[in-house]
Amino acid sequence: MMTLGELLSLLGIVIALLLLNFKLGLITMSVLPVLTLIMVVWQPFARKAFMWVRRAISIVNGSLNENITGVRVVQSMNRQERNLMLFDEKNVDHRDANLWASKLSSGLLPAVDILTAVAIGFALFFGARMIAGNDLALGTLIAFVLYIQRFFDPIRNLTMQYTQLQRSMASGTRIFDMLDWKPDLVDAKDAKPIGSVKGDIEMKNVSFSYVPGEDVIKDISFQIKPGEVVAVVGPTGAGKTTLVSLLSRFYDVEDGRGAILVDGHDIRAVTRNSLASQMSMVLQEPFLFSGSVRENIKYNHTNATDEQMMNAAKAVDAHDFIERLDEGYDTFLAERGINLSVGQRQLISFARAIVADPRILILDEATANIDSYTEMMIQRALLKLLKGRTAIVIAHRLSTIRGADKIIVMNLGEVTEVGNHDELIAMDGLYATLYHMNYAAIEESLPVSGNGQSSDGAAST
Ligand SMILES: Nc1ncnc2c1ncn2[C@@H]1O[C@H](COP(=O)(O)OP(=O)(O)OP(=O)(O)O)[C@@H](O)[C@H]1O
Ligand SMILES: [Mg+2]
Repeated sequence: MMTLGELLSLLGIVIALLLLNFKLGLITMSVLPVLTLIMVVWQPFARKAFMWVRRAISIVNGSLNENITGVRVVQSMNRQERNLMLFDEKNVDHRDANLWASKLSSGLLPAVDILTAVAIGFALFFGARMIAGNDLALGTLIAFVLYIQRFFDPIRNLTMQYTQLQRSMASGTRIFDMLDWKPDLVDAKDAKPIGSVKGDIEMKNVSFSYVPGEDVIKDISFQIKPGEVVAVVGPTGAGKTTLVSLLSRFYDVEDGRGAILVDGHDIRAVTRNSLASQMSMVLQEPFLFSGSVRENIKYNHTNATDEQMMNAAKAVDAHDFIERLDEGYDTFLAERGINLSVGQRQLISFARAIVADPRILILDEATANIDSYTEMMIQRALLKLLKGRTAIVIAHRLSTIRGADKIIVMNLGEVTEVGNHDELIAMDGLYATLYHMNYAAIEESLPVSGNGQSSDGAAST
């Protein structure tokens, strides 16, 4: 609106100038091309500077966020000084960016002011000569000079608005870059809802890579019957989380690189929503949201009754400890649930998975060490959680592994062994090694066979 107003008054003044004296009017306006030229040269510099400011501030914000969320690590590693220094560098860059951008934006106005003076100078010089030649009345010249000053007012304002526009466009570009981001995973055009499933899962020659050419899942095939509990074990980085991420369709298997079938339906041919409603996934790191315990358990089923919610909590033995919290189910959980212990968070995330009463349950057992009491609670919770469902558990606990109908052993993206505990021990392969290393009362950690990762990694069974 303002720009439109400025443009209109500019137009009026131009007409007035030209009507007062056409020749003098043109002479005055001869400075305009110079101004345009200045703007054309200025624009790319300003744009770059404004982009730099936006980038710098997002780096500052990112670093701030990381250091605040990771404050415990920062303190325990005694990295305050160094991080402060690194933060300072980012801040300085942000300041420099702002200074440069400010210089550029404020540099335009003096240019306009100089041109105003030049235009008035022109008018006086040529006007005086015209007066001398009796071509112009003195009064007209005075009116003319006053008009010139009015003429540059809208130009000044337009210039400021133009600067602001450039600034906004720098932000806009970044925002639109993000809004225009295409999701990797979109439902096929003719995708249908999968409906309620029995829980039969089949993987057929599935290969997958995050980075083209580097397969982290290599030609994996297996079948899981409804109601079966399957444990997936293997050293760290073997591809276990990736495998279940494919099943939950966080990533799609590319065409020609195998297929995943649930109840005989290729999961790429069904809608992701309908598939997700048949499965629950408990992630390796339990993530709770700021809000009450109630909100966290009912998370994706806001219309679940309180009774369903409590049943879910009871099923995983979380009810008692929740009741003991200050305000029971209404206790407010801070961001990521940090006011609960890791084990408690885990139990709540189990309850959250059960409220949905899914046919298929995927569980990426946490590797975090927890006290043996919570450990026992989690064991018990797990038994109830898995009962009667098709379950894939990336297992790190012996009890879960032993309770499984089938154990799939993975290493370096491949399934190396399949069977139950006794069969696999008899096979004396990777499973037997991992088992002996972690559970057969050998205290000191041995080097990991296979992928050369830390011994901590082998403990992921
Ligand atoms: N988002 C990702 N982008 C690129 N590579 C990834 C990504 N996630 C995992 N990888 C790689 O894929 C491989 C398998 O990782 P994955 O998380 O499936 O291992 P895992 O078996 O679950 O290990 P852990 O027992 O430690 O949880 C690893 O080599 C890892 O570097
Ligand atoms: Mg994992």
